[in-house]
Amino acid sequence: MPVAVITGASRGFGNALAHALATRGWNLVVDAREPTALAAAADEIRAHAGAVVAVAGDVSDPSHRTAVREAVESLGGLDLLVNNASVLGPSPQPTLDRYPADEIERVLRVNTVAPLALTQLLLPRLVAAAGTVVNLSSDAAVEAYPGWGGYGASKAALDQLTAVLAAEQPALRVYAFDPGDMRTDLHQQAFPGEDISDRPPPEAMVPALLRLLDTGPPSGRYRAADLLTGAGPAR
Ligand SMILES: NC(=O)c1ccc[n+]([C@@H]2O[C@H](COP(=O)([O-])OP(=O)(O)OC[C@H]3O[C@@H](n4cnc5c(N)ncnc54)[C@H](OP(=O)(O)O)[C@@H]3O)[C@@H](O)[C@H]2O)c1
Repeated sequence: MPVAVITGASRGFGNALAHALATRGWNLVVDAREPTALAAAADEIRAHAGAVVAVAGDVSDPSHRTAVREAVESLGGLDLLVNNASVLGPSPQPTLDRYPADEIERVLRVNTVAPLALTQLLLPRLVAAAGTVVNLSSDAAVEAYPGWGGYGASKAALDQLTAVLAAEQPALRVYAFDPGDMRTDLHQQAFPGEDISDRPPPEAMVPALLRLLDTGPPSGRYRAADLLTGAGPAR
């Protein structure tokens, strides 16, 4: 059975992906900060089949990342790491002239530094399996939307880490994956008080990532919208 780590799998896209991979017979290590929600989510994912190891904690905490690695060892290896857990930052998002430095440091720690640190920790297992790393990106990484400077900068930096890691680790597939807008908690935080019911649910974007995994194109940045219509890699 292949093994995947999915960070931030208690809800949203990470949760939808965990269900899809479990249905396909993958064994999983999943995390999130809030332990009760994570345990409930893990029980539901476990109902499909296979092993699901839930490790509650914050991806920006080094001891939590070590616990994730120990969970991977308990499953005997690793084929796929999905760095999905992210925070938006303050809601509503402040413009850069008044973005608090401690808040942007927190966004960068969770969205950018933690995925790299977790990848470093799990790299030997990923290389041994000629595995895949998927880092969740956003259109805010490449578009200059007012108010999105903190979150967008964290995703732009993650895109560059993804590209350089891909160049350094030719034995791996290393993808930045932009799922597009999804009706999730994070998206609601970005549009506080607005009706976001016209956005697609995260389940609608999972087939795009499954297509990426199934077809295994070269490392690079891919958008769900292109994958769903069969188009090639994005910029
Ligand atoms: N929704 C969109 O429109 C959209 C668009 C483009 C890209 N994305 C990206 O897609 C990914 C998934 O987003 P989503 O919308 O599904 O978010 P979400 O619904 O808010 O879910 C986020 C998940 O990550 C966990 N999490 C958050 N911070 C964490 C931390 N520090 N350590 C461990 N777990 C943490 C959350 O659980 P806890 O709160 O319990 O920790 C939850 O399970 C993110 O990378 C996001 O940037 C989303």
